[in-house]
Amino acid sequence: MIERLNHIAIAVPDMDAAINMYRDALGADVSETIDLPDHGVTVAFVNLENTKIELLHPLGDKSPITSYLQKNGAGGIHHVCYEVGDILKARDHLIEKGMRILGDGEPKTGAHGKPVLFLHPKDFLGTLIELEEV
Ligand code: CO
Repeated sequence: MIERLNHIAIAVPDMDAAINMYRDALGADVSETIDLPDHGVTVAFVNLENTKIELLHPLGDKSPITSYLQKNGAGGIHHVCYEVGDILKARDHLIEKGMRILGDGEPKTGAHGKPVLFLHPKDFLGTLIELEEV
């Protein structure tokens, strides 16, 4: 069901510092920042040959990553994103397997303009999983 690793997301306390570190120290191609008010985050993508790193910084008062950064002041890996061919089929399959989908279970539009869902970390080895339809 899951296909390619689309990205690994890292929560960062300082977006400019994170972008500079990936650009200057690691020599990577980093996108401009994109504000996603629906998700409460600002993102920038590090474009690698085989996948992407999504740098995540809180946007607004109710950002879902504020509490993560309160617990992990230096930042840290926040979620991994796997691609699926049909997100509703994937969701129904997971519900059938007893897994929990976060929120109302309906896909939202993600950072690439494609439908995404998040899965409950307690059902997946403590890892927050994002599914993105491609
Ligand atoms: Co993501």
